[in-house]
Amino acid sequence: MENLKAVILAAGEGKRMKSNIPKVLHKVMGRPMVMRVIDAARKAGAESIAVVAGHGSEQVIEAVSGEEPDVKFYLQESRQGTGHAVKQAVDFIGDKNDVFILYGDTPLIKAETLADLYDFHKKEGNGASIISAHVENSAGYGRIIRDRNGNFVKNVEDKDAVGDERNVNEINTGVYCFNGKRLKEALSLIKNDNAQKEYYLPDTLAVILEKGYGVNAMETDDVSEFMGVNSRVQLSEVEAALKNRINVFHMENGVTITDPSQTYIGDFVKIGRDTIIHPGTILEGSTEIGENCEIGPYSRLTNMVVGNGTSVQFSTALDSYVGNGTKVGPYAYIRPNSKIGDNIKVGDFVEVKNSVIGDGTKISHLTYVGDSDVGKNINFGCGTVTVNYDGKKKFRTVIEDNVFIGCNANLVAPVTLKEGSYVAAGSTVTKDVPEGSLAVARSRQQNIEGWTKK
Ligand code: UD1
Ligand code: CA
Repeated sequence: MENLKAVILAAGEGKRMKSNIPKVLHKVMGRPMVMRVIDAARKAGAESIAVVAGHGSEQVIEAVSGEEPDVKFYLQESRQGTGHAVKQAVDFIGDKNDVFILYGDTPLIKAETLADLYDFHKKEGNGASIISAHVENSAGYGRIIRDRNGNFVKNVEDKDAVGDERNVNEINTGVYCFNGKRLKEALSLIKNDNAQKEYYLPDTLAVILEKGYGVNAMETDDVSEFMGVNSRVQLSEVEAALKNRINVFHMENGVTITDPSQTYIGDFVKIGRDTIIHPGTILEGSTEIGENCEIGPYSRLTNMVVGNGTSVQFSTALDSYVGNGTKVGPYAYIRPNSKIGDNIKVGDFVEVKNSVIGDGTKISHLTYVGDSDVGKNINFGCGTVTVNYDGKKKFRTVIEDNVFIGCNANLVAPVTLKEGSYVAAGSTVTKDVPEGSLAVARSRQQNIEGWTKK
């Protein structure tokens, strides 16, 4: 590929969004729309990318360049049409390369489709290639006019269409691949003598054809990929479509999703075979889940790595690792930097933070384990608290293998419970507990007889 480029139009105001945020920065499945278009263009081979911004350009530039520092920006100060918008980036386009022209508000566009368009463009040796779609209702779209032999002639906008043109149901999806030089020549020739007094980008197609270069449309029947967002309702529609696309991908890979409409899986999430995802589950970031797991209902996992055969229900887990055959929840909270091993129970109302938990350990209920190094086969009684913070500094609690902690114990860090030691219920442990011994750190019970009679 010879230095393929992409120009993304994002100057539209997005009035119907009724938002202080520029339209293209609204998120679809957690990622700003314009970033999704940039991702697709990059994946399809575009080496350099420009965004034409207008409304809210400072915000657009800040958000995009934060993630994609190489993207170039051009300003369209007044909205005079798609052709005018592309003209603003004329210095970027180049002569020897091809260039995609895309919209920043069509986040469902696939990289494979763009790659197909590029192949089509190259194979036919066109000056310009577009994607057209056959639709039932062509209202609002540019119509593709062909001659009696089926050759491309021109695009006619909805508002300019007359007579038979109105009934044409092959439409312009708004996705283009141009030879850079041909595009630049044509942009300098198009006029705005039309119904909307705008410079139409699709008018360049007829110009390129007249100059003797090939122009053709790659046809499709599926418009869903080219759906644009102009309102919050359409935003929810593309969100649903993308959510479904990702869910279908996982189901085709052997994952059971019991209610796809209530399951949100991020783009980069990986899930192993025969894992079951229950409703209300959100899997985000770089989360990776193994085989034969049961995740959900109602759980949120962000940047988690989970082994095989593990279950997580009604819980939140962030930036941590959970091993194999472990049970998490209901109502557990795993906070960042935790490493929870195999065959462990992290039960109801248990919070784990920045801790290592060894295999076979049971933390069944109502317990806080923070900044702790916990060994294997430990039993935490209900209501254990690692007291890790003195108001200024955090300290670590070390619990060696086979320790048994009775209910309602406070372990005041820094403190170590040595191998096989016991802690009596209700103890507040402030000193290390030697191997194999029992720590009792509570006042003795006194019974005052006859108390009620007095
Ligand atoms: C455009 C096409 C139409 C096609 C349709 C597909 C033109 C003249 N018409 O129509 O053939 O069927 O897309 O969706 O191109 N934009 C700017 N600056 C402008 C005008 C538009 O940045 O001055 C951006 C918008 O933000 C939007 C995109 O270009 O992302 C398309 O503009 P829009 O007005 O929605 O074009 P349509 O009327 O839908
Ligand atoms: Ca549109």
